[in-house]
Amino acid sequence: MKKKAYIETYGCQMNVNDTEVIFSILADAGYERTEKMEEADLVMANTCSIRDNAEQRIWGRIEVFHQLRKAKPGLIVGIVGCMAERLKDKLLDTHKVDLVVGPDAYRSLPRLLDAIGPDSPQIDVFLSRDETYADITPVRTDRNGISAFISIMRGCNNVCSYCVVPYTRGAERSRDAASIVREACDVYQKGYKEVTLLGQNVDSYLWKSGTETVTFAGLLEKVAGIAPDLRVRFATSHPKDISDEVIYTMARHKNICKHIHLPVQSGSSRMLEIMRRKYDREWYLERVAKIREVMPDCGLTTDVIAGFCTETLQDHEDTLSLMETVGFDWAFMFAYSDRPGTLANRTMKDDVPADEKNRRLNEIIQLQNRKSLERYRAQIGRKVEVLIEGPSKRDPGMLCGRASNNMMCVFPAQGRSAGTYTEVEVTDCTSATLICK
Ligand code: 5AD
Ligand code: SF4
Repeated sequence: MKKKAYIETYGCQMNVNDTEVIFSILADAGYERTEKMEEADLVMANTCSIRDNAEQRIWGRIEVFHQLRKAKPGLIVGIVGCMAERLKDKLLDTHKVDLVVGPDAYRSLPRLLDAIGPDSPQIDVFLSRDETYADITPVRTDRNGISAFISIMRGCNNVCSYCVVPYTRGAERSRDAASIVREACDVYQKGYKEVTLLGQNVDSYLWKSGTETVTFAGLLEKVAGIAPDLRVRFATSHPKDISDEVIYTMARHKNICKHIHLPVQSGSSRMLEIMRRKYDREWYLERVAKIREVMPDCGLTTDVIAGFCTETLQDHEDTLSLMETVGFDWAFMFAYSDRPGTLANRTMKDDVPADEKNRRLNEIIQLQNRKSLERYRAQIGRKVEVLIEGPSKRDPGMLCGRASNNMMCVFPAQGRSAGTYTEVEVTDCTSATLICK
């Protein structure tokens, strides 16, 4: 009988994709996927280290796994992903997990699983300069069969002073363009209608083979050329690197969705400087102006950090005013969390008190809620094309799907089915959903 593996995934979409790669590697080691923790022979968490609270959740999950192991001796408990990289010793010594594997070492899982014994936990946290898992076909764990995520690069070469990712995921490397196009063709043939190309900084994607050099714009062009009814999305863009060429390529292809996630982090040039983002407020606003000049209907979303080291009230006001000026459709907003090992942690003081960080964060959230509502309201009366994803979560009698600009739409089913395109008219909205007919 086949052994069963259960994996919980935390953190970013990249991790969701990595879990799919892991299931593919585990299949070669004789494991099949289960969604029931109780019937598993191997339970793992694919973890995130981006903020302290992400890590705190995992310690709790490890306790739950240990309870399970008490009831089922021989059960293997594993921690993989960013926390495995960062906290290997603590995981093995204090928390007694059987398996610790970093983001670049998933290929060694079969070997490590073989070697595990009652008193011999196994670890591999080797960070690679070239691993991209290019040849591994992920076992898709999404259930809708419509939208697939494809990793196009791994790691990150930026040194944003607050960020732990370069330490947990290593240096940036791009994946063979041909293998990306092959994977996109393959999911299209399996009936998928949307692919999202994933990387920490997609704009610095670069693949050289023989005389051919493929930039991110070139890759977009290739993937968009697979089929007119295959939508293409991507994340994440970096304001310092997003090129006119990428913007014009998006505009040229109807099937490249008009949405850019462009993390700003702060609206203060002084903060951006010490965050080492390598752009300033003016540069960011110019990129937004260019995007809107070429694609007036392009959706824009962002990430914002409140209360980074030395942030003054004036810096905070600058963030609010930038958000007011740009008018993002949506934003992910965070209080700064000091991460061991980062440049900020080593060289700066985390000097904005927690309650002040949260006060600023709440101001940011309130402003964004107002802006989101404005942006969604502006869609009322428009006709938009949506790719139907399935029944709406709130009202199973309705269908839902995204517009090109990434806004979620709900509308009456009227005999339509998931995986097809339909045009709807926006009649009403909330700050996160367009209600359509
Ligand atoms: N504290 C708070 N937010 C962070 N992010 C990254 N590092 C930190 C940190 N130390 C946020 C950034 C990034 C998003 C993925 O997480 O906004 O864009
Ligand atoms: Fe993803 Fe960053 Fe979290 Fe790692 S630390 S899982 S790269 S969000």
